[in-house]
Amino acid sequence: MSTEINSYIKAHKDRFLSELFELLRIPSVSADPKHKNDVLKTAEAIKEKLISAGADKVEICPTAGHPVVYGEKILNASLPAVLVYGHYDVQPADPLDLWTSPPFEPVIKDGNIYARGSCDDKGQLYMHIKAFEAMMKTNSLSCNVKFMLEGEEEIGSENLGTFVKANKERLKADVVLLSDTSILANNIPSITVGLRGLSYMEVEVTGPNRDLHSGVYGGAVANPVNVLCEMIASLKDKNGKIAIPGFYKDVETVSKKERAEMAKAPFSLKAYKKDLQIGDIRGEKGYTAPELTSIRPTLDVNGIWGGYTGEGAKTVLPSKAFAKISMRLVPHQNSEKISKLFEKHFKKIAPKSVKVKVTNLHGGEGCVTPTDSIAYQAASKAMQDTFKKKPIPVRTGGSIPIVALFEKELKIKSVLMGFGLDSDDIHSPNEHYGVFNYFKGIETIPLFFKYYAEMSKA
Ligand code: BES
Ligand code: MN
Ligand code: MN
Repeated sequence: MSTEINSYIKAHKDRFLSELFELLRIPSVSADPKHKNDVLKTAEAIKEKLISAGADKVEICPTAGHPVVYGEKILNASLPAVLVYGHYDVQPADPLDLWTSPPFEPVIKDGNIYARGSCDDKGQLYMHIKAFEAMMKTNSLSCNVKFMLEGEEEIGSENLGTFVKANKERLKADVVLLSDTSILANNIPSITVGLRGLSYMEVEVTGPNRDLHSGVYGGAVANPVNVLCEMIASLKDKNGKIAIPGFYKDVETVSKKERAEMAKAPFSLKAYKKDLQIGDIRGEKGYTAPELTSIRPTLDVNGIWGGYTGEGAKTVLPSKAFAKISMRLVPHQNSEKISKLFEKHFKKIAPKSVKVKVTNLHGGEGCVTPTDSIAYQAASKAMQDTFKKKPIPVRTGGSIPIVALFEKELKIKSVLMGFGLDSDDIHSPNEHYGVFNYFKGIETIPLFFKYYAEMSKA
């Protein structure tokens, strides 16, 4: 690669870090209406950064929710176009007391940048803006590029479908490039080639019309917390299979050959258990941990509440109980269909003594991306250059619903070239991102553009 780009990156290293810090200081929590203005402030900051990096037609595009920041550099209509996607919103930072330093006051400790969003996804998004700047300033940009940076990924990208449909012409590109996933380790590069889909439900179980004295009524009146627990427990059988009729109907069977291929990726169950301080893993029988979190669907309670949870004891038979339940889906399962199956089943298993309300909070489809495409090959070659090792294709368990949406609406495939680590504690207290990873991304992205342009021509 042109040493010129690398010298540019090196010469501006401190500024590349301090600019990221500026973004990390704005609490762009999309889920919290109190931070609506911070989300907007982040969009404005990103707009300025895109402009100074050299992008044209930079615009904050309003949606019914948080805005999309768009910008582009069209060099020549005959060159391939890369659509860069990222999200500048972040997850809520709580529980705050578990952070060792405040979530919106970034600091570097032991080579890691600690802050909410450092990895997911401000840090990874900003690598693209800095890589773009480096290519622009060294006159080495070899593709047309379009940026579409959104502000509500963490709450389900609810308005992005509408935005994409309304901007098909403007978003036209040959490939989508995004960094919002991880590599296996800093010395084991990988490229994500599959993500799970998601159905996220909330349930409300109502027993008696008001809270009751648990002595006076307890024993004769259904306790909605007890009932909810029984209902949830029945959603999986003793082999860890989800007991919702029809749930597995569309699940893709991954061939033995592909499973054997997947098993080549390094994984230590012992280290995994040690890291999480768990005695054993638990899941559907017959699958390894990496399989359970990538090619198999699952169902998890994300939160459950009801009754008295304050100090000390209060004898009460509560009127209501609630839970948030998510299902991670695999390719071919349809989120809407699964949400309906869940609702139907959950209502069916409710005893007469309670009423049940089921709400579908959000959902999205999973995806598998090709490894035989020019774009994948370009990403692979780029990472091989910077990591000195050929990246391994891996499927992972998280969800980025926009990937399936791009494919459906724009007919373009994505390359998931992320640089995070699973141990970066995204969504958790003390989220961090390696300084190594940040600069590895900034160095690798220009190589992707270079190889993608070269290979497209051939
Ligand atoms: N970047 C993550 C998804 C991810 C993380 C993919 C790690 C692969 C490895 C993304 O920001 C995210 O958190 N997505 C949500 C889904 C969304 C609909 C709320 C998720 O997976 O929970
Ligand atoms: Mn993300
Ligand atoms: Mn996330």
